[in-house]
Amino acid sequence: MDADLHARLTAWRRHLHANPRLSLEEADTAAFVVQRLRDLGVTDIATGIGGHGVVATIARGDGNRSVALRADMDALPIAEENPGLPWRSTVPGAMHACGHDGHTVALLGAAALLLADRSWSGTVRLVFQPAEEGAGGAARMLADGLFRRFPAQRIFGWHNWPGLPVGTIALHDGPVMAAGKPLRITLEGVPGHAALPHLARDPILAAGHLIVAVQSLVSRTLDPVSTGVVSLTMIEGGTALNQIAGSVRLGGTLRWLDDSAGAALCEGLRRIAEGIGATFGVGVSVELGDGIGVTANHPEAVAIAAEAAAAVAPLRRDLPPAMTGEDFSRFAAVIPAAFVWIGAGEGGPELHHPAFDFNDAILPVASRWLAEVAKRSLA
Ligand code: NI
Repeated sequence: MDADLHARLTAWRRHLHANPRLSLEEADTAAFVVQRLRDLGVTDIATGIGGHGVVATIARGDGNRSVALRADMDALPIAEENPGLPWRSTVPGAMHACGHDGHTVALLGAAALLLADRSWSGTVRLVFQPAEEGAGGAARMLADGLFRRFPAQRIFGWHNWPGLPVGTIALHDGPVMAAGKPLRITLEGVPGHAALPHLARDPILAAGHLIVAVQSLVSRTLDPVSTGVVSLTMIEGGTALNQIAGSVRLGGTLRWLDDSAGAALCEGLRRIAEGIGATFGVGVSVELGDGIGVTANHPEAVAIAAEAAAAVAPLRRDLPPAMTGEDFSRFAAVIPAAFVWIGAGEGGPELHHPAFDFNDAILPVASRWLAEVAKRSLA
């Protein structure tokens, strides 16, 4: 990639970083994408796909194959803590803490590379996905007929990856990222005076036992060679120092890499919660959200992703999967897919950290890998 294109992409990325839009609110980001695509010379652009999704099509020659490249566009409800950064978020309480600003711009860069390249033939779909961060953007796009209206035989995507050397590509055979479900548990007791506990049913005491007991799920419900995570991340209950609360709400997440582990965790969570409820005489309800599936790479897409990676960057194939989740899994469940990580460098803030900033140095590698993987998938 020439320095001029890298400089333009960097400026676009910083514009998006300064103007983050949360899940389901990406209208301005989508409009920015459409304008940049038009500036590059892309004419076939569909908007409003599954919300603020954009699908652009670049077709060339007489090839009848098609391939999709995916980027996510949304920001997170996190207040940015980068006071000295000239392109820091201008939206209070919202920031691009996961680098989706970089993913979006890298796909624009791939469009520029593909438009300038006469060596390929076929149809490339540029899929700009909204609402990746837990709001079901991929499912919304699929429900809106994504692959029916814009057919593709394979789909590829990537995520910037802190902790991996700058520009190194990591590719997995099989699972890349975990499946998971959000969980909410409500414990309903009987409120009463704090000094008359025998007349009440204390949901806070029950919640305490429940919090400890769910940590036995992974160690005593899963096969020891299987992998899972249970994290309770929210707790809410009580309003007065001298009252036994009427109810307590807990929230968190379950994660796993294979579906039998997922089923065991979900069933075990309900069993433990109901048992704790019975033990302490409080009502318990467990709600598990839809969540997402495992992001699993397909062998045929892996082979193409590996060739493309080897052409543009150092490649690692020895990393274990991450227990974070990816909405890309929805697409990977429908057509053969591969999802890679591209190293953002060591020592910087992690994803979802309030001081995170996408590393613009990896834009050329990311755009080149996307363009290469598309060309090789069409060949
Ligand atoms: Ni992300």
